Amino acid sequence: MNPSPDSLAEPDQVRPEVRGFTAYVPGLSIDEIKEKYGLARVIKMASNENPLGTSPLVRETLRRHAASAFRYPQGGNPRLVTALARHHGVSADRVVVGNGSDEIIDLLLRIRAVPGRHNVVTFDPCFSIYPLQARLCGVEVRRLPLRKDFSQPLRDLRTLADDRTALVFVTTPDNPSGYCPPADAVLELARSLPPGCLLVVDEAYMDFVDDEAATSLLRRAAELPNTAFLRTFSKSFGLAGLRLGYGVLPPRLAEYYRRVRLPFSVNILAEEAGLSALEDATFRAATLRVVREGRRQLTEGLRALGCTVYASQANFLMFAPPSGRQAPSLFEALLARGIIIRPLKSYALPHLLRVSVGTDEENAAFLQCCKEILA
Ligand SMILES: Cc1ncc(COP(=O)(O)O)c(C=O)c1O
Repeated sequence: MNPSPDSLAEPDQVRPEVRGFTAYVPGLSIDEIKEKYGLARVIKMASNENPLGTSPLVRETLRRHAASAFRYPQGGNPRLVTALARHHGVSADRVVVGNGSDEIIDLLLRIRAVPGRHNVVTFDPCFSIYPLQARLCGVEVRRLPLRKDFSQPLRDLRTLADDRTALVFVTTPDNPSGYCPPADAVLELARSLPPGCLLVVDEAYMDFVDDEAATSLLRRAAELPNTAFLRTFSKSFGLAGLRLGYGVLPPRLAEYYRRVRLPFSVNILAEEAGLSALEDATFRAATLRVVREGRRQLTEGLRALGCTVYASQANFLMFAPPSGRQAPSLFEALLARGIIIRPLKSYALPHLLRVSVGTDEENAAFLQCCKEILA
């Protein structure tokens, strides 16, 4: 007799890691909220996207290449790899690209960590894809709490690592706090890890820091044989929806990455868009200016309303309303007014909220709504 269609999805028919898996919680979408509250206009400040949208040069490129969508991209996306190597002043044999940096995180785990044998070390809270994908791999996750002020005890992180630690994940600037550790502390961690342990420095928000040259170690990748750097086109380059991330890895690891990566995970339009985004220096400069100014505007505005705002070097701010208990109701009341921000319940921080920096007008509308709700 044939099994019933669902019998293959009974709990004992899937891997134990899959059975207990909890999905990543994304920010709410604009359409969802428009429909739920019957709103014509919704402002999304929930997913740290680019407040200026898609660069004009990229839009033009997408129009021009729309007719090529029927083609497979060139295997390995070599033009994009070369352009990224030039952009960062690193050698091309270190550069890998992926379907968002999410894909690179997932593949680094699968390349390095042996299920049931290795462990992964990171902070708590941290960007949730690290522990989620590690668990899916059947790899133990060891987490060190951040300090109360959300700074990172990087020296103590070393004490969690042993000869079975395949990867250590550090995010700088951090998500969801926006905290940015000094480059020296990250360097010290890299140099102190056990042999055989890869340090993954996730720099998704690095372009937004006040002084990138002093804060990022990426340019020194060649000096750090045990360190991988991750970057993304989703934030300052404004390509979140096209899914494009990249990494600067030790060359041998990059070679394994290229071997195991699904052949066409960076699609032909994402590749062309990425190449154009790298060239649009005007859009990039405008983005950085708007984000840095908006960060100041939101910090001052929220503090004036009695909120606790954590110092951020990213394109978002983590904050607590005057009473932590108000966080869920402030989030809901903002939604009803058509402003989506990010509750941090899924990071086990129910008393905190995260707001992405928007345009001048979006920031002002957000602050005005907060003022009315908190009054
Ligand atoms: C710290 C961090 N790393 C990586 C990512 C993933 O970025 P991508 O869109 O390139 O997958 C994010 C996305 O929000 C992030 O916050």
